[in-house]
Amino acid sequence: MDSVKSSAADKLIGLEDDFGAHNYHPLDVVISKAEGVWVWDVQGDKYLDFLAAYSAVNQGHGHPKIRQALIDQAHKVTLTSRAFRNDQLGPLYETVCKLTGYDKMLPMNSGAEAVETAIKAARKWGYTVKGVAEDKAEILVFTGNFHGRTTTIVGFSDDDQYKQGFGPFTPGFKLLPYGDLEAAKAAFNENTVGVLIEPIQGESGIIGPGEGYLKALDGLCKQHNALMITDEIQSGLGRTGKLFASWHEDVRGDIVVIGKALSGGFYPVSAILANNEVMDVFKPGDHGSTFGGNPLGCAVAKAAVEVLVDEGMVENSAKLGAYFLEKLNTIKSDKIREIRGKGLWIGLQLTDAAGGARKYCEALKQKGLLCKETHVDTIRFAPPLVITQEELDWAFERIEQVFQELG
Ligand SMILES: Cc1ncc(COP(=O)(O)O)c(C=O)c1O
Repeated sequence: MDSVKSSAADKLIGLEDDFGAHNYHPLDVVISKAEGVWVWDVQGDKYLDFLAAYSAVNQGHGHPKIRQALIDQAHKVTLTSRAFRNDQLGPLYETVCKLTGYDKMLPMNSGAEAVETAIKAARKWGYTVKGVAEDKAEILVFTGNFHGRTTTIVGFSDDDQYKQGFGPFTPGFKLLPYGDLEAAKAAFNENTVGVLIEPIQGESGIIGPGEGYLKALDGLCKQHNALMITDEIQSGLGRTGKLFASWHEDVRGDIVVIGKALSGGFYPVSAILANNEVMDVFKPGDHGSTFGGNPLGCAVAKAAVEVLVDEGMVENSAKLGAYFLEKLNTIKSDKIREIRGKGLWIGLQLTDAAGGARKYCEALKQKGLLCKETHVDTIRFAPPLVITQEELDWAFERIEQVFQELG
């Protein structure tokens, strides 16, 4: 790279470092343009995006139909607050409810807010429908969980870094080993209002709880009159080759939490989905958000969901995900511990001898492939779902080369 160009990137990195909180450790690639599965940095170098903004860009960067919906709506009205109605909210509700089969939707902005909304819904349902005594509601959660960064949510994480220095935390959560059915059976009691689970844990390294577990847990919820709350913020909207990852086990959460790809990367939109028995616990004034359900976000989300379905992205994820997983399994390296995943969501876990995933991500970046480590030892592969087989082959060549070079 020539030095004039590189100094432009260095200057921008310097501005971030000097004036921004250091709460991330990004790869030093300064992106200024993106289209589909490709991104360009300020130097004009092109990369294949193999992270898709943690699955928020399932539809590919700058999808023309979503962009047009954003532009058209920006010319009309962008924010009314929920003090008044707007003409985009109802059509979004109808589209999402008809697609997913749920009675109702409650929109928020970030994923963490939607998880908080699910927690509030479950607790209120517990008190008003199940009849749990005041302030006794319990929600079961799991080791390795990641549901966001609010103080309530990090309070039930078992990752020290997420919580250290941020207490005191909200009570009412019971942490269970992920995938351990016997532990779950023993944990339910009359105060259990719900179970909050990622059908596949993304931040933990694309780890599932084992075949049959989700279905069995759902059965326990039904047996104990508790709500199954599936956090599909990262696993949902096609990422695993079905609309929701829990659908692989024929499980339909009583509350489904969605976000990220709900707006195709254009605008933060999240939501919970539930049937009337649960959603009707909310009365005017119980819950809300100034931006939640705003017309700009609704127009974007409606277009984002429509293109996901109309353009066969969910099917593409299933088909090409299986293809890519098979290909990755042909790589011969004693530094690979395990390669696992569903659809276009694959975790490649390295052995301890590999010395961490970061250096592999740095090496892949040098070859034009943007991946990010999750935890210390796993490389996450999660390209936009519009990727083609040829583009996957292109990525595979680079991954194979990096393993040849680094072992
Ligand atoms: C499963 C899951 N839940 C919740 C969140 C939080 O979403 P947000 O960062 O939009 O608050 C994430 C983000 O990575 C996630 O993967």
